[in-house]
Amino acid sequence: MSTETQGSRIPGFYDLSLEERLAELAQRGVLSAEELAALSGQAGLSPEQADHMIENAVGTYALPLGIALNFLVNGREVLVPMAVEEPSVVAGASFMAKLARAGGGFTARADRPEMIGQVQLLGVADLPAAQRKILDQKRQLLAEISELDPVLKRLEGGPRDLEVRLIEDSPIGAFLVVHLIYDVRDAMGANAVNTAVEHLAPHLETISGGKAHQRILSNLADRRLARAQCTISLSELAFGDYPAEEVRDGIIAAWAFAVVDPYRAATHNKGIMNGIDAVVITTGNDWRAIEAGAHAYAVRSGRYTSLSTWGQDTQGNLVGSLELPMAVGIVGGATQVHPAARACLKLMGVATAHELAEIIVSVGLAQNLAALRALATEGIQRGHMGLHAHQVAIAAGAQGEMIERLAAQIVAENAIRVDRARDILLEWQKKA
Ligand code: MEV
Repeated sequence: MSTETQGSRIPGFYDLSLEERLAELAQRGVLSAEELAALSGQAGLSPEQADHMIENAVGTYALPLGIALNFLVNGREVLVPMAVEEPSVVAGASFMAKLARAGGGFTARADRPEMIGQVQLLGVADLPAAQRKILDQKRQLLAEISELDPVLKRLEGGPRDLEVRLIEDSPIGAFLVVHLIYDVRDAMGANAVNTAVEHLAPHLETISGGKAHQRILSNLADRRLARAQCTISLSELAFGDYPAEEVRDGIIAAWAFAVVDPYRAATHNKGIMNGIDAVVITTGNDWRAIEAGAHAYAVRSGRYTSLSTWGQDTQGNLVGSLELPMAVGIVGGATQVHPAARACLKLMGVATAHELAEIIVSVGLAQNLAALRALATEGIQRGHMGLHAHQVAIAAGAQGEMIERLAAQIVAENAIRVDRARDILLEWQKKA
């Protein structure tokens, strides 16, 4: 159906049936029939596979999986899979990606994949002296760790640096914390880092005379940031009765609120994470780690604030940027075990964890723009309620064609509530 079969624009995709959308993806030849089946829920993660992943498994749990369109990231067309239960998220990201295309799409860059592993050293008699001794032996300690993971070594990853922090004041008094900086290449890296710090710990005990207490990676992966920016041409911003300048200034004013107010910033950043988590989940990556890193990064100045920035360029176009830790991998863990995660990574065509991080942060920026544009103009509910009405209709007991009909009725009545939907359904059943 599409004339732009290899790009991320698929005009009319929204209006296709689910089967037709899958056929459209199949036509692109990127995914095999088996991979498409993993996306559609026909195949995917089996209960047997789940049983090998977690304890006490009884099955698997499904979420809607959609494809965000129109993304151009660093000049590359990307179809972006998103797993999310909330209406408007996929549509919002797709629409904003379309607006961003006119300004060249998203430009994104990810830092080197350096994670931080922490060792808490307790019971050290002379903290400054132990700090010096550990730093004096940094070279030997790093050499020791570099032999630990032959695969990482072959890929030129491994330990990069060692830092020793003196925590002067805590509920238990002063102690030392050692940071191992570890390049994990294309992995998320939690296992590699945790193994490395556990290996490092006895050496640190010997040098410091203390006891290595906690040995664990930090989710504040602030050496592994990803950032994206986009320019939305002023001409793209006008819609309905809203002039472009009003939309642009409204978006900037909405962002300014999040900059100064943590109550607003929490919701603003939640909107960013709507996009980020939805992509992270499809790739089998640890979205709790990404959430933890994002919010810790948002409060790095001491005050919780917006993760994104919005302003205007000299031509009056809207410019946005987003930066946050992005510890995602394309190897290891569920990324390779989960059939749908493998298919999603393939759909995005990512060859490195870098590329994946760059796509994800671009989606976060698009999602933020979608929310701010709606909030600054017609409000969030208008776009939200159409699909929400379907969920309400299903919750009220509608089935098959009745879902669409009932959803339309409660939208028309401006009463998108389960109680009203149930009443209407009952009335219709009585009449039938
Ligand atoms: C809803 O899931 C997300 C928003 O609340 C984000 C925001 O307010 O910026 C719409």
